[in-house]
Amino acid sequence: MDCVGFLQWALPRMGMRWKGFRKVRRQVCRRIRRRMAELGVEGEPGYRAYLEANPEEWEVLRRLCRVTISRFRRDHGVWQALEEEVLPELARLAEPPPGAAPGDRRLRAWSAGCASGEEPYTLSLVWKLQLEERLPGVRLEILATDVDRAVLDRARAGIYERSSLEELEPEWLQAGFTDVEGRYRIRDHIREPVELRRADLLRELPPGPFHLILCRNLLLTYFDESTAARVLERILDLLVVGGALVVGSHETLPSSRSWPLVPWVGGEPIYRKTD
Ligand SMILES: C[S@@+](CC[C@H](N)C(=O)[O-])C[C@H]1O[C@@H](n2cnc3c(N)ncnc32)[C@H](O)[C@@H]1O
Repeated sequence: MDCVGFLQWALPRMGMRWKGFRKVRRQVCRRIRRRMAELGVEGEPGYRAYLEANPEEWEVLRRLCRVTISRFRRDHGVWQALEEEVLPELARLAEPPPGAAPGDRRLRAWSAGCASGEEPYTLSLVWKLQLEERLPGVRLEILATDVDRAVLDRARAGIYERSSLEELEPEWLQAGFTDVEGRYRIRDHIREPVELRRADLLRELPPGPFHLILCRNLLLTYFDESTAARVLERILDLLVVGGALVVGSHETLPSSRSWPLVPWVGGEPIYRKTD
């Protein structure tokens, strides 16, 4: 059995789908081979037998199958639509937290599967550099969650290579980062609205409600239809009516049922939650 055959056998057993892994299979297969060498098992059939005899190994395999690739301002059109149309409209839904003054309105966003912080910090950059002054009295709070502790540590450090920042305009780079020996460190005022927290999307969701949920290149790419539909339903419970859900640009909503969502902006994977 080759690695692809092995993945086609193993992924559905973890609620995942092979199709999402086609492009990243080399990276995942390299990790699996390293693990097999560590265990001293012979080839993919050996690893399959090992999994069958040692159910706790499934958790290790799950980790090996995690894809953590991201970059700042990934899918340019989505960020442009968020800046020009969606966030200004969402700001009208912002409310004061309990006990706060009426002038202190909060807009709550959640980045589900935030990798090393590229997505939530991009949102903060858009807000701080383009919108904050235009929308006085509204404060953006961003909760960023991921299951992987290593990527969360990188998000906390907030230091990036040039390659993950290539889609940012030079002025944004200057306004949002300081130069640390050829690498880029996110500035404190951009980091400030972002709270990083560990959470497994399949097990526990953070307390809502949210006005904006970014769930991109995770649930609808790597998980099978029934897992994706089950989790998406719970995610939508956390979104206010009129709020926005953003998915990845190559992702589609599970077709097994209808969703209380309508496309927000032509051509972009952004949806508005309906009643
Ligand atoms: C490919 S990255 C996408 C990052 C970002 N959303 C983007 O679109 O650029 C997927 C992220 O989801 C995280 N992830 C995978 N399984 C998860 C789970 N069950 N719960 C929460 N996060 C998960 C991975 O650790 C990884 O950081």
